[in-house]
Amino acid sequence: MVVAACILAAPPVLAQPVPATGVDPAIAKLLAGIRAADKGQLAVSEEDGRFLRVLVGATNARQVLEIGAASGYSAIWIGMGLRQTGGKLTTIEFDPVRAREAAANVQRAGLSDIVKVVHGDAFQEIPKVAGSFDLVFLDAWKPDYKKFFDMVFPRVNPGGLFLAHNVINKKNEMLDFLAAIEKHPMALNTTVSPGHEGISITYKRR
Ligand SMILES: C[S@@+](CC[C@H](N)C(=O)[O-])C[C@H]1O[C@@H](n2cnc3c(N)ncnc32)[C@H](O)[C@@H]1O
Repeated sequence: MVVAACILAAPPVLAQPVPATGVDPAIAKLLAGIRAADKGQLAVSEEDGRFLRVLVGATNARQVLEIGAASGYSAIWIGMGLRQTGGKLTTIEFDPVRAREAAANVQRAGLSDIVKVVHGDAFQEIPKVAGSFDLVFLDAWKPDYKKFFDMVFPRVNPGGLFLAHNVINKKNEMLDFLAAIEKHPMALNTTVSPGHEGISITYKRR
């Protein structure tokens, strides 16, 4: 009886402890598996992924576009942020095998209601995506960055963000893009480097 009373008074024990990262253990395992299978090292670092998730949540972004999905690693981090804000992500991937992997991984993460994977060339597919964007994450072929910026920045909402990956470790492949964001009259820029590859953040003035 006394033992039973002690059990009743004890705080509930969770079947799965909530990890300090705030990532569901099944999704953490999935993410680790994507990175382990990523022989071409296409995916962003875990730190960059965490940063994207936090930024999406902190800015309350709702309409998000990713250019360059690969196998869906960064899309899952962004999707976890959008689960919090109630938003949606469209992510575009040129390679058919990777696009299928991304869609399967998004489904495994339980994010199919939030993340739409589009297979195709983003230059062709972006005009078919309706509306404007609160946040854009560019992680495609680096010499195309300026062309994507010119195409998409006009569709970023005032107060929204245009992010580009690898602006430190692949800086020399995108010098025209880096010059363009610095001189754009509507842009305020900074660079962060959670995982040492560098992410430019271009804020569109209101
Ligand atoms: C660095 S990887 C993206 C990694 C992904 N963001 C992640 O962290 O998991 C770049 C991807 O962009 C894709 N890509 C390059 N140019 C593209 C284009 N014009 N349209 C769509 N995808 C493109 C490539 O096929 C490649 O899979």
